[in-house]
Amino acid sequence: MASPKKYPSSSDYAEALQNTGSCFRDKDLRGGDVQTTPLGMPRAISGNFASVFSVVGGNGKRYAVKCFTRHVPDQQVRYEAVSAGLADLNTSWQIGFDYQQSGILVRGSWYPILKMEWIEASGLIPWLERNLEQSGAIADLALDFADMVNDLQDAGLAHGDLQHGNLIVDRAGRLRLIDYDGMFSKSLIEHGAAEMGHINYQSPLRTMNDYDDKLDDFSAWLIYVSLLLLIEDPGLWTEFHAEGEEKLLFGREDFEDRQVLSALAGMPQFSTALAALETCWSARALSFVPEFEPAGLPSPDEILTGGGYDPLPSARTVQDPPAIPTGRPQQVRPVTFSGGLGSSRLCLALAVLGLLAMPVAVLLPVVGIPVVALSLLAAVAIAVPAYRAQPELADRQRAAYALQSAREERFAAAERLRTGRPSPHRAPPAAATPAGGTPGASREQIEIERVTAQAQEEKAQVTQALAELQQTEAGRLREALEAVQEAHVVQQLKPLVITRSILWGIHPRITRHMAQVGIVTAADIGSVTVGPAAGKRKVGLIVDRRGQRYLIDGLDGAGVQALKAWHRGEVNKAMKTAPSTLPPEDVEAIRKAAEQERQQLKAQQAQLLRRISIETRAIKKRQQAEQLRMRHAGGGARRPPAPPRQPEKTARQIAQEELEAAEQAERRAAQVLDSYSGIRLDRFLLR
Ligand SMILES: Nc1ncnc2c1ncn2[C@@H]1O[C@H](COP(=O)(O)OP(=O)(O)O)[C@@H](O)[C@H]1O
Ligand SMILES: [Mg+2]
Repeated sequence: MASPKKYPSSSDYAEALQNTGSCFRDKDLRGGDVQTTPLGMPRAISGNFASVFSVVGGNGKRYAVKCFTRHVPDQQVRYEAVSAGLADLNTSWQIGFDYQQSGILVRGSWYPILKMEWIEASGLIPWLERNLEQSGAIADLALDFADMVNDLQDAGLAHGDLQHGNLIVDRAGRLRLIDYDGMFSKSLIEHGAAEMGHINYQSPLRTMNDYDDKLDDFSAWLIYVSLLLLIEDPGLWTEFHAEGEEKLLFGREDFEDRQVLSALAGMPQFSTALAALETCWSARALSFVPEFEPAGLPSPDEILTGGGYDPLPSARTVQDPPAIPTGRPQQVRPVTFSGGLGSSRLCLALAVLGLLAMPVAVLLPVVGIPVVALSLLAAVAIAVPAYRAQPELADRQRAAYALQSAREERFAAAERLRTGRPSPHRAPPAAATPAGGTPGASREQIEIERVTAQAQEEKAQVTQALAELQQTEAGRLREALEAVQEAHVVQQLKPLVITRSILWGIHPRITRHMAQVGIVTAADIGSVTVGPAAGKRKVGLIVDRRGQRYLIDGLDGAGVQALKAWHRGEVNKAMKTAPSTLPPEDVEAIRKAAEQERQQLKAQQAQLLRRISIETRAIKKRQQAEQLRMRHAGGGARRPPAPPRQPEKTARQIAQEELEAAEQAERRAAQVLDSYSGIRLDRFLLR
């Protein structure tokens, strides 16, 4: 047996699994097919203390093989106890497993494995993200969750690490519980806890000394109340869960400052649920965390049907965010570098020094060659990291990803149109209807799609606007800097009175005439050109900075050239002393404004999600009531379906519209990516 101290890493296991003929003892797994990455390596799903591999055994069955990356004392005894505890429960959430103490051979030593049935499932977070608008599905899941916790309580067991990573939703939409490493069972009391659970789901008071049947109370309240809140208001997901966060709606920080609870205080139907969270979060000892008991809370079904209260005028006192024009201007401005000018100049200077030193290198190699080599090397050493640090590079990468996903969405939409399969973003396919019966569910689906089409469209626009905000922010920073520079130049040009400057080729009579019409100083000139001919004589055309045009009689071609050269020279001189960066307070103000806009867009997104969910629920309720009424009337199936009040869109029309929207989104994303064509190393250096 291997020493208990050092366990193989995920990549050690992946290496061993390249040869399933020799690494496993188990007859099903031996010689099995491991799921691999595109590079042909066994694909490891890595959790905290283990890596899970998917293996199709010789018997054709797919197994999950969990390989441990740390030693857990008494692991075999623990699994035996858990197995015995679960054996008496006949529940749908359990996963069959077989602990094998010497299951896998890695570099000459045997290590334990857990052989499990493979569950084709989705993690809880991605599942929720896909089903936010399906409050019915979330309600079913919440019921499953409460039943599961009750099953564990009844059996005197506790899971110990209830959290999104250990809750998966299978193809049938049923909740499954995995990862029994840290479970509590009475027979294990003397062995103590094996882990502390996920920080975002556990009371800050929990320690390794806490090991009893109350281990799950805190996390169970947290998860269950989060699911109830999401049934009522899916917009909370956008408000409380940032992308990539390891939590549902609340995490460790919220337990500590508890502000979110006051933010939710406007949902009276949740007062008991929120009070339970408050008690959990403010408990002074773990024993004060109340036992998980969902009976006192509104049930998922009650929330779904708005029983006892009216869900339609969103019970939460949320103010509609101010409408933001989401239709962005069609023209996307080309992006240029906003910083790093100093390093570009330095690199160019070093490169020029290197080139100038080349003749010296031929004549005086001892001095010349090191100078050439060092200056060129230094130029490269400065240029490459400075270029890579430019924020526009990351923005370009994001734009490339956005285009990629827009393209995938377009392919998927085209495929849906071709095959007639509905969009996965929409409600699940209609349930099979009795032969000859009204296809109520698909009618319902079509009505939902029609009624929510506008909200869906707005939601897509808001999402797009959020993605573009980054670029808008960079554009605003650039424009603000240009404005500051222009103000500086104007300040420098104001004292340069034209009549007092000697302008070769321009008669003082003409400059006096210019002064009379208002062109007094260099700051009054925007551009100078030869204007339309007046008879035989040429006239100069001066446009001031506000765009006002002045025809100057007698200002001929030579005069125009002289005035232009003088003006340009002064502008260039003034630009040399102009600020090259924005004052930090201006940067801060722009960033703050963009952040506010981001928050408003997110609030708008949440509001739209809410609207879609409310409308969907209202339609479902109406349809259910209608079906019930028809059944009671006794001839539902024979009654001709009522003619639709408005022409409904067919599934094909919807698919066609989706494809058009996807094509438009792709064109837009391509335009955005195009605007980054100037973000290149040579452009960075030669500014
Ligand atoms: N039986 C299974 N079927 C399918 N996927 C599984 C199974 N067991 C684990 N997984 C996947 O592997 C991941 C890690 O497994 P888990 O047992 O939670 O490991 P850890 O103890 O490291 O958290 C899970 O989040 C899940 O995605
Ligand atoms: Mg886990």
